[in-house]
Amino acid sequence: MRRFFNILDNSNNRTNNFLTIQNTREDIIGELDAIIQYENHLEQTNDERAKETIQDIVKEEMLHVGQLFGLLFSLDPLSKTQFEKGIKEFNKQD
Ligand SMILES: [Fe+2]
Repeated sequence: MRRFFNILDNSNNRTNNFLTIQNTREDIIGELDAIIQYENHLEQTNDERAKETIQDIVKEEMLHVGQLFGLLFSLDPLSKTQFEKGIKEFNKQD
């Protein structure tokens, strides 16, 4: 997994809140990476049991993304504001 921030780099200036926010962002990346991998594997199999299992897992990972965004938005309200602005800008494109 990509490491944007290493917890071992923790210096005196870094607060626990900062670490929690950065770790949450990193966890979101991990969940998205998992979705990409599962969906790629889904495309590579014709086994119905494998397809059904992987599709179930993908849905669970998507739920985890939502949970982590919920956590991020509660820890960092600016992220929530900007996220919502981004969705509004996207919807204006229609
Ligand atoms: Fe997950």
